[in-house]
Amino acid sequence: MPEEVLACLNCRPGRVYVDCTLGGSGHARAICERILPGGVLIGIDRDPDAIRHARGVLGPLPAEVHLFRGNFLQLPDFLAQLDIVAADGILLDLGISSHQLESSGRGFSFKRDEPLDMRMDPDSGLRAGQILQRSSAQELAQLFKQYGEERWAGRIARAIVAERQRQPLTSTRQLAELVSRVVPRRRQASHGRIHPATRVFMALRIAVNRELACIESFMSQAAEWLNPGGRLCVLTFHSLEDRIVKRQMKYMASGCVCPPGLPRCACGHRPAMRLLHKKVMRPGEREIRENPLSRSAKLRAAEKIEERPGGPA
Ligand SMILES: C[S@@+](CC[C@H](N)C(=O)[O-])C[C@H]1O[C@@H](n2cnc3c(N)ncnc32)[C@H](O)[C@@H]1O
Repeated sequence: MPEEVLACLNCRPGRVYVDCTLGGSGHARAICERILPGGVLIGIDRDPDAIRHARGVLGPLPAEVHLFRGNFLQLPDFLAQLDIVAADGILLDLGISSHQLESSGRGFSFKRDEPLDMRMDPDSGLRAGQILQRSSAQELAQLFKQYGEERWAGRIARAIVAERQRQPLTSTRQLAELVSRVVPRRRQASHGRIHPATRVFMALRIAVNRELACIESFMSQAAEWLNPGGRLCVLTFHSLEDRIVKRQMKYMASGCVCPPGLPRCACGHRPAMRLLHKKVMRPGEREIRENPLSRSAKLRAAEKIEERPGGPA
């Protein structure tokens, strides 16, 4: 949804924008083209490949670009390093990049036989294979159920624990074949057209990268990192991610959040943001036809409220 994202960000010359999830730099490049003259783009990604790629794509552009390898939760540190107090637009395009999926060699996809790594930042945290090796059957079942909404979570988890007693699970093919064996053949149709291992791979990736905790924490602070009138745009591809974004945006846009029935407000909560759209934005039929992966995309955006003495506008 590139046009919708750019419209929501309201890119203007001379302002400061942050792309927290550079990936292939498609959005970052489009932002750079819209903020000239004088605009600043801060690009962040925890994957060193994304930063290397961004140098090539954004380097030749005439905009002022600052690239940081790290977690988007480090945004306040990066702003401080640049002596910037706050941004005029922040974009999060969550999930994995096509490079990570197709060619990183880090085991995000079951389509090729690769080591079971799945770390976006290949220098920190546990690999997917280590999680499979160390977790109990109960923990694995919970992980597949919670993050992958996998119907056969318990059965798959028990099979993993049995298999690892024979040999460690270290490759994507081993895991994909195990899941295919375990999910009852006649039931594989209930997975629709998707491969039976799709949900397990997605759940593992979310766990390895602590994706939901990062979003939760970012969303609870994002308003502080925006100038008044600044925009926050979040593109998600997973219902659990969207649920967090929806809830946090609603909270930021709310006034009093006291339980009903109190005679007087005790929370003092004031809206910090204004929602840009009543309903979530989804890709149109044409985009879905041209790019079937966009099917599950959801875009939400909010604008920081200009504070006036005595309360919000
Ligand atoms: C869907 S891709 C972004 C695609 C990008 N918008 C484009 O136009 O090509 C998501 C990117 O976000 C990065 N990412 C995910 N979570 C992150 C986090 N917590 N901190 C920094 N980068 C993160 C991933 O490494 C990946 O490169």
